[in-house]
Amino acid sequence: MIFKPFSKKQKTALKWWAEPETKYFDAIICDGAVRSGKTLCMSLGFVLWAAASFDGADFAICGKTITSLKRNVVVPLIRTVKSLGFNCIEKPSANYVDISLDGIGCNRFYFFGGKDEGSASLIQGMTLSGVLLDEVALMPRSFVEQAIARCSVTGSKLWFNCNPENPAHWFYREWICKKDEKNALYLHFTMNDNPSLTDDIRKRYERLYSGVFYERFVLGKWTRTDGLVYPMFKRNKHIAEPVDDCTEYCISCDYGTVNPSSFGLWGKCGDVWYRLKEYYYDARKEGLSRTDEEHYRELCNLAGEFPIKTIIIDPSAASMIACIERHGRFKVLRADNRVLVGIQRTSEAITSGKIMISPSCHDIIREFSLYCWDEGSYSDAPKKENDHAMDDMRYFVMAKIAGDKMSGFFAYSARRK
Ligand SMILES: Nc1ncnc2c1ncn2[C@@H]1O[C@H](COP(=O)(O)OP(=O)(O)O)[C@@H](O)[C@H]1O
Ligand SMILES: [Mg+2]
Repeated sequence: MIFKPFSKKQKTALKWWAEPETKYFDAIICDGAVRSGKTLCMSLGFVLWAAASFDGADFAICGKTITSLKRNVVVPLIRTVKSLGFNCIEKPSANYVDISLDGIGCNRFYFFGGKDEGSASLIQGMTLSGVLLDEVALMPRSFVEQAIARCSVTGSKLWFNCNPENPAHWFYREWICKKDEKNALYLHFTMNDNPSLTDDIRKRYERLYSGVFYERFVLGKWTRTDGLVYPMFKRNKHIAEPVDDCTEYCISCDYGTVNPSSFGLWGKCGDVWYRLKEYYYDARKEGLSRTDEEHYRELCNLAGEFPIKTIIIDPSAASMIACIERHGRFKVLRADNRVLVGIQRTSEAITSGKIMISPSCHDIIREFSLYCWDEGSYSDAPKKENDHAMDDMRYFVMAKIAGDKMSGFFAYSARRK
């Protein structure tokens, strides 16, 4: 492995346990921007510390899920320590690796996915000499506390890293705010602490995120969600008609009986998806609710002569889904309804100009100016009002634009079996 010389902060995260002024700490916490070099130096530091301090001991390396942990942490780590002369014996089926250095000793590193089912009970019986929790803010508190409680060996240390979240998050309140009480060394990373990032890549990240996600992922700040959910939407930038014919079409739906129903017709022109037309029906305002069949007729009107095969729809809209399927004209794709991931991906799509809105779509344009975060909430949650076109757009982005667009597809095929 060829590394760029580590930055000053990376060096501290790598060898704080050996330096006279920092070795008395019981824990280290690195937080900050994405891609700022936290995981690389901490995982390497963790193995070096274990080799220098223990022989025949057990450790845990934990990530959000076992799959993401192996991909993001374990594979590059093993490659790196092998290149430094360590022997690694992996037992993939057993989820651990033995790492040894001739003449020094051997330690075992178990892998855990904090969000995986049963992980808290798996770690429960263990006696550990140290734990590395990568992206700790994404794990359930019960798992993290269980992992910490397992570190009962004298000289054990806790290694945490994460990207910032809401400042009401338990990890921020319990560990970062109480770092002195917990005797933890705290290091705050920015993208400047990763010597491998070129200016171009850094600028690309800066362009990708906006609003609260910019504050958190680029500036690395624990920022509360407040104000508009999509402040990056600008009338003078994001309202336009396609200049050419569209090559692909689809419709996304948020269905309500008492609450409004919002359906959006999207057309792809070049790399950009345009919301061409919409159907928005507010039963409360109209004083009359519509039946599923009536909504279906409007859906067909919206589809018109366009070659539409798939309707992306709110997975909880059981009766409407049944109605669409009964008619047999369209295929139903149950939307991926993870709110925060969806908002983040939609923000990226707006910021990068991948979605545009036709001036005739008055309801979504109105909701853009009203859809806001619920400031009274302790976690990141949007207010459940003026969110109908916002939701159908989010379903659309998750299905058609977001990186993990297959997740909606899998949910759909699993339900069809
Ligand atoms: N000193 C370095 N030399 C070369 N590549 C580095 C260095 N530090 C970090 N990287 C690379 O930068 C990318 C982001 O680092 P990572 O540790 O995953 O960041 P974070 O955990 O803060 O998101 C990774 O591909 C990593 O290998
Ligand atoms: Mg990381």
